Amino acid sequence: MLQTYGTARAGTAPILKVEDLAVEYPLGKGFLWKPKRTFSALDGISFELARGETLGLVGESGSGKTTIGRAVLRRVAAARGRIIFDGKDITDLAGEKLRRIRARMQLVLQDPYASLNPRMRVLDIVAEPLLVHGVVRNLEEARPRVRELLRLVGLPADAHERHPHAFSGGQRQRIGIARALALKPELIVADEPVSALDVSVRAQVVNLLQDLQQQFGLSYLFIAHDLSVVRHISQRVAILYAGRVVELADREAIYTSPRHPYTEALLSAVPIANPSLQRARKRIVYKSEVPDLVNPPAGCRFHTRCPWASDRCRTEAPPLMEKAPKHFVACWHRD
Ligand SMILES: Nc1ncnc2c1ncn2[C@@H]1O[C@H](COP(=O)(O)OP(=O)(O)OP(=O)(O)O)[C@@H](O)[C@H]1O
Ligand code: SF4
Ligand SMILES: [Mg+2]
Repeated sequence: MLQTYGTARAGTAPILKVEDLAVEYPLGKGFLWKPKRTFSALDGISFELARGETLGLVGESGSGKTTIGRAVLRRVAAARGRIIFDGKDITDLAGEKLRRIRARMQLVLQDPYASLNPRMRVLDIVAEPLLVHGVVRNLEEARPRVRELLRLVGLPADAHERHPHAFSGGQRQRIGIARALALKPELIVADEPVSALDVSVRAQVVNLLQDLQQQFGLSYLFIAHDLSVVRHISQRVAILYAGRVVELADREAIYTSPRHPYTEALLSAVPIANPSLQRARKRIVYKSEVPDLVNPPAGCRFHTRCPWASDRCRTEAPPLMEKAPKHFVACWHRD
């Protein structure tokens, strides 16, 4: 039985279970006489998500955050491993069965400017999933549900007749959220949903996502570049480095007693509100070197940047080990 590193809530069946997931992307175009080369974007990813829980996924650019979201939503194929949604193995689902499952899992994207079609009215944008999935027969039938959705996300009552350009960044993200909610999903993959927004409106959108979660029991995979954004919304946090999870623990454990050297560096970059604490804290900066996923470092993928790297680290990949209750760390030299 594969370990999937628990949920925040013991005893309830998880809404999502990812077991030993690997994703490979093609490296350029293959030729007839040359087999297609691939590189490993994700390797050995396992975790669970409880109903109503938020798991923060944090890592630098290229670490594979979006790829995890895409694999869970079945937008990219798994090269290995399983994706279990609501107790059902959906890794190889196709056709109508996949379509039905997809309605229960939705995506909220980073850039509300890019993800909304500027020529469509808000009514068309939010009603589209309802039409595509046959929940309503036409726009007139969709109108009351769209009004209700716009009210839920805090947009003005007359918003449905306007176009996206008439709204601010935060309001556009609210339109994206209303659209994602249209089919009453259970799981939302929020891929950097506030990264493109002004700092002043980030908290409002995060609060909205939290309110909606409480109201509808939603589960979130909440993706972010840095640890400050996921702090208030996640019950647990997974840290990714070069396509692997290097640390996974409850939020408090990650923020107060991080154990992986990479997590420590990420955390040292998070600003603290108290200026004297901020001054007292040392910023940890490791040699910057974007890991090459085409030829990933052998052993621990972080060894090229890690000051504690030993010979073992350079040859043997550390598995995620439970170093304290519910606190999993992939490092040979940290307890
Ligand atoms: N469709 C694709 N084809 C080929 N390579 C891809 C594709 N999508 C992503 N990649 C590569 O896979 C790796 C992981 O990408 P991914 O987008 O999942 O990272 P990320 O953590 O979301 O990064 P970012 O913070 O920049 O959004 C990167 O090296 C990226 O270049
Ligand atoms: S396993 Fe070794 S190289 Fe990797 S983080 Fe731990 S000490 Fe550093
Ligand atoms: Mg991404």
